[in-house]
Amino acid sequence: MEAAVFILLLLGTLSQLSRGQYHYQSLMNYLESRMVAMEERIALWHEQNSRYNSDLKQFRQQAADLLEKLWKEHQTLRQDLEGAGARVERVEREMDYIETKNPPKPCVKARDKMVEQEAVVKEQKKKEEFFELSVCVDIVSNIRAMKILKRVGSPKGLWTKDSRTAKVYVFNGTSEDTLYEFSSVKELSVSSGMSKGKAITLPYAWDGTGHAVYDGFLYYMSERSELQVIKFDLRNNSVADSAVFPTEGRAPVYAFNPSTLVDLIADEDGLWALYPVGDNINLAKMDPDTLDIEQMWDTACPRSGSEAAFLVCGTVYVVYNTRPSSRSRVQCVFDVNDMVTGGEAPLVYFPRRYGAHSSLKYNPVERQLYAWDDGYQILYRLALKKKLWAIAPPPEE
Ligand SMILES: *[C@@H]1O[C@H](CO)[C@@H](O)[C@H](O)[C@H]1NC(C)=O
Ligand SMILES: *[C@@H]1O[C@H](CO)[C@@H](O)[C@H](O)[C@H]1NC(C)=O
Repeated sequence: MEAAVFILLLLGTLSQLSRGQYHYQSLMNYLESRMVAMEERIALWHEQNSRYNSDLKQFRQQAADLLEKLWKEHQTLRQDLEGAGARVERVEREMDYIETKNPPKPCVKARDKMVEQEAVVKEQKKKEEFFELSVCVDIVSNIRAMKILKRVGSPKGLWTKDSRTAKVYVFNGTSEDTLYEFSSVKELSVSSGMSKGKAITLPYAWDGTGHAVYDGFLYYMSERSELQVIKFDLRNNSVADSAVFPTEGRAPVYAFNPSTLVDLIADEDGLWALYPVGDNINLAKMDPDTLDIEQMWDTACPRSGSEAAFLVCGTVYVVYNTRPSSRSRVQCVFDVNDMVTGGEAPLVYFPRRYGAHSSLKYNPVERQLYAWDDGYQILYRLALKKKLWAIAPPPEE
């Protein structure tokens, strides 16, 4: 009985055991399959990781190579720059040296004195002229000499020489219509009065002393219903063009020359006009062919106390005086190219005279001023120096 119970129990245990073993087995199978899956994933990660690592390593190497290359390039660039800098310095020193060896040239090339050739050359010429405008670096340093030529008449007037045709023109008075043309300064000086001159009568009287003659054309101001700039062809005595000049009111540009409202200047750089705006003298650049106004500047030079002005290489020199007249002097300058400022320009005194200038016309070929002082025709020879030297003195060599 006891043995039978034992066997039953044993059987029961055995069956329980085999059931448990079955459970265990399936659990193991399950775990194993999970392990395999995990292993597979780990293997995958591992593979990815090592691929990633090798990629990273490769990238690092590439970056390092690139940096090294950049650094080398930077070094050679710096060496090149240093070399170029040294070369520029050497050229600058050489230029300074050449400048000290050669006196400054006038602003006009020798070619200007030659006879005009074909129109084909004109375009190229224009380019040259533009270049010349930018390289013209002369500044007035003082008045070297004075010559009183003669006395032809009224206290106020103007005389000038066309720097292209070399003819001399005399405008006696501030509101006339007949001017005189001379073939040279000499012809004028030996002429009794205007007798040797060729009389040219204008269709409209001129006003003031602000006229200019350049390349066979006369540019003058005439007040009719409005203030006009007239371009007159002196070769066939005809009006080539005219334009209204915009000014506010009837103020003179220079305090001591009340009849001159606008002062015209014609030179190899074109046509310029000095005119009043408020208390200041302003400058306009005009097209000599069309009389269009192209650009305007406030020179910041006061009109008060001024008697005349002239222009050398794009710099305006305003001449001042006192009442009663004393020594005329340049006391304000304005440089269109901003290379000279008031403080850098020298104070230029004119030789002592007892009159007052009614006009000063600069001739760039001769580097002299044609002045009209109380009826006298005077020549002032100017001493020029390089504009740049006013800013940086040349090295001593
Ligand atoms: C210049 O003009 C004044 C005033 O009109 C006159 O007296 C003088 O004779 C003129 N001079 C000449 C040379 O014509
Ligand atoms: C004057 O000469 C210029 C060229 O030199 C010409 O264009 C103009 O038409 C001429 N004028 C007269 C009125 O003959």
